[in-house]
Amino acid sequence: MSLTKRDANGQLRVEDVALSDIARQFGTPCYVYSRAALTAAFAGYQQALTAHGVAERALVCYAVKANANLAILNVFARLGAGFDIVSGGELARVLAAGGNPAKVVFSGVGKSRSEMRAALAAGILCFNVESASELDSLNEVAGQLGQRAPISLRVNPNVDPKTHPYISTGLKTAKFGIPYEDALTLYRRARDLPHLEIHGIDCHIGSQLLDPAPAAEAATKILALVDALAAEGIALSHIDVGGGMGIRYRHGEDGEVAPNAAEYLAPLLAVLAGRREKLLFEPGRSLVGNAGLLLTRVEVLKHGEEKNFAVVDAAMNDLARPALYDAWHDIVPASVPVDAPQKVGASGTAVSNPGELGGVRKRYEIVGPICESGDFLGHDRDLALAEGDLLAILSAGAYGMAMSSNYNTRPRAAEVLVDGANVHLARRREEIAQLFALESVLPIPP
Ligand code: LLP
Repeated sequence: MSLTKRDANGQLRVEDVALSDIARQFGTPCYVYSRAALTAAFAGYQQALTAHGVAERALVCYAVKANANLAILNVFARLGAGFDIVSGGELARVLAAGGNPAKVVFSGVGKSRSEMRAALAAGILCFNVESASELDSLNEVAGQLGQRAPISLRVNPNVDPKTHPYISTGLKTAKFGIPYEDALTLYRRARDLPHLEIHGIDCHIGSQLLDPAPAAEAATKILALVDALAAEGIALSHIDVGGGMGIRYRHGEDGEVAPNAAEYLAPLLAVLAGRREKLLFEPGRSLVGNAGLLLTRVEVLKHGEEKNFAVVDAAMNDLARPALYDAWHDIVPASVPVDAPQKVGASGTAVSNPGELGGVRKRYEIVGPICESGDFLGHDRDLALAEGDLLAILSAGAYGMAMSSNYNTRPRAAEVLVDGANVHLARRREEIAQLFALESVLPIPP
């Protein structure tokens, strides 16, 4: 489902609420999420799993890192989701949002002992162990608590996910996981450690995968290991195939083609058909990415000989993806005059709708106010803009607010969750005093 719809008055809406009303009430920049879109994305996974007859033995563990707002976590908790966490902080968030610790898997290459203790105390489902060293320290920590830690090994299957190098994790050269060749040896070692209990196996090869084939290839390699382990008497109860399903960021002719959950999961589930193990998934982006946008206001227009700049009130500290990965996000006006020609995309979204509100249509660099040339949100966007216009930066629900910072001492944006005609303030805009509340100057004198 598409997040936004243009109404008869030219207003862009999320569910039943106009973005201009949200800006009026909560200010900008503001992240806007839709409960219905979150729910639909989760349902997409559940429906695909049901269609393949594996829903009963499958658990979708939302990757918290994509968007850790409590309101979002709570929506998924209510839907029965599990959670994939990578820190003690994420564990605390899941618990605060009403998530079930018995459905939590803990990934990450560098878990600290205090994080291990917290997760053991909470009673999580499984630790995804990423190194020999972690096996030893987890064994020791569990022993101190008189517990046995449930584990799976995150195995690196050496499969190229064919995505951006910064978000590829499944190649030999990555810091992630245990080399495929070492997996059997490490499982034997884990079996012999008294405070560990082997539950499963895990792999995650990368993010924003538009082609499901590499994930299916990784699963095939993982299954070979599961069978080799079984032959040695090490029976696994679950297989975790990680996250990674890509989403569509760019609509229109130049845009990428992204699979839906059914298309993405079909080859994977074909590989996993007929198994008795439980199946775990760790999707992040595909559950939240297209369920959120970043609403921003044009502060300043600078028209030049070479370039036209629209300086907006959101910046790379709010949405780092363009600066960090050269990522594309569609940017559309929140209001267009009703008599303007409306180019509505095939999906019914207003994505290809050109900006027609204020001024004359021009090619703009959409940039933030931060003192870096890398502070851009979009290059070469054809929009008719006037100062004060509102713009929606689409597909910003995943790795948007989650990767935000206070660079340039900019308060983080507000976040709202739209639910029908209601707008729930999911996070208040930060106040400047909060940004330095933890700091102190030297005592005086001397
Ligand atoms: N599981 C593990 C172990 C992961 O490392 C990740 C993402 C996921 C699951 C969720 O993957 P997803 O379904 O979201 O693709 N900041 C980057 C993406 C980093 C992904 C890191 N790991 C971006 O904005 O594109």
